[in-house]
Amino acid sequence: MDYKRGQWGSNFGFLMAAVGSAVGLGNIVGFPYKMGKNGGFAFLAIYLILTALVGIVIMLGELAIGRKTGKGIMGAYLSFSKKYAWIGFLGVFAGLLILSFYCVLGGMVTRYMVGYLMQILGMEGFAGQGSNFLEYLLYDYDSMLLYFFLFMAVTVAIVMGGIDKGIEKFASVAMPALFFILLFIIVYIAFQPGAAAGYSFMFKPDFSVFSDPEIGFWGVFKAAAGQMFFSLSLGIGCMITYGSYLSKNENLQKNTIIIPLADTIIALMSGMAVMPACAAFGVAYNKGPVLLFVSLQTIFENMGTFGNLIGFMFYFLVFIASVTSSISLLELCTTFQIDLAISKGKNPNRKKISCMFALLALILGLPAALDALGSGNALIPAPFELLGYEMGGAGYAMWNDSWYDFYDLIAEGIVMPLGALSLSVLIGWVWKTEIIKNECELSGNRFIGYRYYNFCFKFVVPIILSLIFYAQLLDFFG
Ligand code: PHE
Repeated sequence: MDYKRGQWGSNFGFLMAAVGSAVGLGNIVGFPYKMGKNGGFAFLAIYLILTALVGIVIMLGELAIGRKTGKGIMGAYLSFSKKYAWIGFLGVFAGLLILSFYCVLGGMVTRYMVGYLMQILGMEGFAGQGSNFLEYLLYDYDSMLLYFFLFMAVTVAIVMGGIDKGIEKFASVAMPALFFILLFIIVYIAFQPGAAAGYSFMFKPDFSVFSDPEIGFWGVFKAAAGQMFFSLSLGIGCMITYGSYLSKNENLQKNTIIIPLADTIIALMSGMAVMPACAAFGVAYNKGPVLLFVSLQTIFENMGTFGNLIGFMFYFLVFIASVTSSISLLELCTTFQIDLAISKGKNPNRKKISCMFALLALILGLPAALDALGSGNALIPAPFELLGYEMGGAGYAMWNDSWYDFYDLIAEGIVMPLGALSLSVLIGWVWKTEIIKNECELSGNRFIGYRYYNFCFKFVVPIILSLIFYAQLLDFFG
């Protein structure tokens, strides 16, 4: 058997793909929304601290373990011991769950993009609903399914092309485009009267949210931690997978810093597009995923002649960001199966494998596409409605209403921190930080900050992750 697993064509290509995985709905919707809900600056401060203490450390761990073993998450853990197989399994499973709801949301983004394109061409793009379109779309099951499938089809088409000819090629064009569109929108918004209040909400030191009985320090902490894992694509093996396709000549430590840095910059830039826009047009910051659809649509509607164009550009940008993330999720699963086949001496068929996982994600995503994001009275009831809970009743408060929230809770709330915790304990205590250092030094660069990383793998990350689980439990039983 002579199967070539593939490799990134260049370090730039790898970086665009990895930053593309990180930058997604999490940055453009999750970040401004969670920041809006959790006190603005206080959230930002905790987010940055967690990124330095946990995000960068786990990022290095994942990239190094991936490159060292030359395998995706499952293969990587198996090459140490069979008893770690469960971590690989959980990662792939969570990846599939995220992929499923991510493509539902990506499909909705596509629908809005198409809507604005139609408006530009002089057609009615939103069924005459204006900014009430979200309500209409959620119950328009045919459209929800159609755009969900379409988004998945785009994802699978790219992954079928393989690492360098599919993912890298797409990301190398799409990511720079995303950056410049975002920059343009930020500048445009900055000139809208009233925008300034949005910046001061983001950057003016204010920790009053810690004394808010509804949220408090632990609330902000938990939100920032979940956001960090999700936004950096950590804990489920996406970065192990991408690292496994990286040449031994590349500088891992440098890449490790660039990815979170770029991700944070794009998140801040998204905030600087969205929050001043909300301020200028009198729309609340903390409206959840609704922000992406209703609030922004209201804003574009009020922008006058340019509204349709800016609207189209904005949703096009979100579309790009989501596709570069969904391909990394599908690649996580695809690589898992490819490595499995190789280890059995078989010749894997990438196209078939990626289609199979896309199909699985489509099936898993059906309830998320058909439950109207938990708005009630939908074709498919929300998970807790099924279990006989009264919607909005006690014990139910943390489990928000939709399948999307439910999947997200499993992935972002449980599997991601658990995956990161296992990785960090294994590196710090079992395999020893030496293996990370040795892998990094293969490129001929000296490993910088050994003591810092060693201390973080051994103590800081496990402690912070235990605190995250503690905050999670507080939420559930509190
Ligand atoms: N990081 C992506 C985002 O911010 C989502 C993602 C999570 C992608 C996990 C891959 C793995 O939207």
